[in-house]
Amino acid sequence: MTKVLIATDKPFAPVAVKGIRQVVEDAGMELALLEKYTGKDQLLDAVKDADALIIRSDIIDAEVFDAARQLKIVVRAGAGYDNVDLRAATAHGVCVMNTPGQNANAVAELVFGLLVYGLRGFFSGASGAELKGKKLGILAYGNVGRNVARIARGFGMEIYAFDPYAPAQLMESDNVQAVASVEELFSTCRIVSLHIPATAETKNSINHALLSLMPPGAIVVNTARKEVVDEASLAGIFDKRPDFKYLTDVKPDIAAELAARYPDRYFATPKKTGAQTAEANINAGIAAARQIVDFLCNGNTQFKVNNGDV
Ligand code: 3PG
Repeated sequence: MTKVLIATDKPFAPVAVKGIRQVVEDAGMELALLEKYTGKDQLLDAVKDADALIIRSDIIDAEVFDAARQLKIVVRAGAGYDNVDLRAATAHGVCVMNTPGQNANAVAELVFGLLVYGLRGFFSGASGAELKGKKLGILAYGNVGRNVARIARGFGMEIYAFDPYAPAQLMESDNVQAVASVEELFSTCRIVSLHIPATAETKNSINHALLSLMPPGAIVVNTARKEVVDEASLAGIFDKRPDFKYLTDVKPDIAAELAARYPDRYFATPKKTGAQTAEANINAGIAAARQIVDFLCNGNTQFKVNNGDV
């Protein structure tokens, strides 16, 4: 029997697993579950006889592909697939997909949770500030960026975005002002929310030069990937600008140092939590299961991300 394995270090909500099971079993396939695994050996063992894999931020590298002799498809239930070695997947003839947009609202809502918390002095009781009327810069206008803009409109913010890959028309129709460069975004907006994927091009791209451009009372929210922010620059800007705040659910490697030195300006959630809602788990998990069934039964490769260019 065809075996679909959910391998999630950070488990889905039980209701999402139930939904995934339904889709898989309705298609005459078997579902196996590996959650909260404590070592890579458990993952390597579990993938041995899996035909399909549903993952989240789990690292799927060449060693995992070597162990997974029967594997035909990996679906990352989520947007970013920087945790999957696409080259190794392609070399092993495995199709890799993501589920774009399925957890976007959850991540966008967290942005505003972090922002209200940050602007109100981490709920210290000191007089804080409001979002209304503030300039918000959205870096990358994909599914999450668009949801951030939708919610920001409700707060009465002035919204700007930079995304060389998104049509300016899309931003205009959302009442978002498209700016011409990332420098313009950072120099215009007091608040910048990052929604870029971690790629060779974007890693460490948020650097000292950009952060220095931000207006007084600058806040950067990072619910994307820690790797897109250059950590030496981050430490440097905290040191140089007493007005700078950084709010994130993707802890930098220097988290302990920042938390100790700047407890009133740096905040990170204890765990990565942007997509961790029942709704996002259901949406992304069930989409992943449906994509697997459609691929194995009908050869549908609509959401394939390793298209021979890796
Ligand atoms: C994504 O890329 O979809 C988000 O970062 C969510 O990641 P997670 O599944 O590890 O919560």
